[in-house]
Amino acid sequence: MRKKIIAGNWKMNTTYEEAIALVNDITIQENQLHLSENKIVVIAPPFPYLAHCSTLLKDKAHFYIAAQNCSEHSKGAYTGEVSAAMLASIQANYIIVGHSERRTYFQETDAVILQKIKQALQQNMTPIFCCGEPLHIRENNTHFEFIQAQLQNCIFHLSDDEIKKIVIAYEPIWAIGTGKTATPQQAQEVHCYIRNEIKNNFGAAISASISILYGGSVNATNAAELFDTNDIDGGLVGGASLNATDFTTIIKAMQA
Ligand code: PGA
Repeated sequence: MRKKIIAGNWKMNTTYEEAIALVNDITIQENQLHLSENKIVVIAPPFPYLAHCSTLLKDKAHFYIAAQNCSEHSKGAYTGEVSAAMLASIQANYIIVGHSERRTYFQETDAVILQKIKQALQQNMTPIFCCGEPLHIRENNTHFEFIQAQLQNCIFHLSDDEIKKIVIAYEPIWAIGTGKTATPQQAQEVHCYIRNEIKNNFGAAISASISILYGGSVNATNAAELFDTNDIDGGLVGGASLNATDFTTIIKAMQA
């Protein structure tokens, strides 16, 4: 059975005190979250708080830490960068790679994103690979071709063993931070397309095993109906992950 995952991407928000309080507020409700064997929660705080958050979650069976980014290089003279090896050394488990904000504001190309995925995998960490189309592509009705190219350039270069270890997040850019969520039908249609593309390239067993998360204005109200679809295996949540009550409602909305 593939994993159901709710991942909270805090982006560039919270002070140190707020971050610790947020982790505590989420985990204090652990017993009410109904986290069975295949359900996990991933929290992606900003870099400076990762080590402390990782320590706070050390004994919490279903909780994991993600970094929001990593360098495409393994080490060396890259001032200001953070390597996957550094993240592994503080027991981070996941790395969000290729988020649309990084593609847009930091000019990350598919080639760079592929290198970041490789860095994460080399450190035995799970990349959460983000893909998704901007509004004009959706309006032209060329979003399947757009997403196909992102998959082709980034993850279809991986081996069978490598692709098995990744998580995919479909995040239509027009839905991120806009309050304009994709409908469950729109999201399911793309998730099904992505799973089918993986099947064509890597076979049915691998395709059935990969978790595909939806991201883009997931909130406490719309989460349940998004997750009540065949191919949506959880969510990558931005804004709503900064509020412990909303985030835990989203976790509870995750299907068994
Ligand atoms: P949002 O962000 O939930 O605030 O739309 C999602 C994301 O960027 O991962």
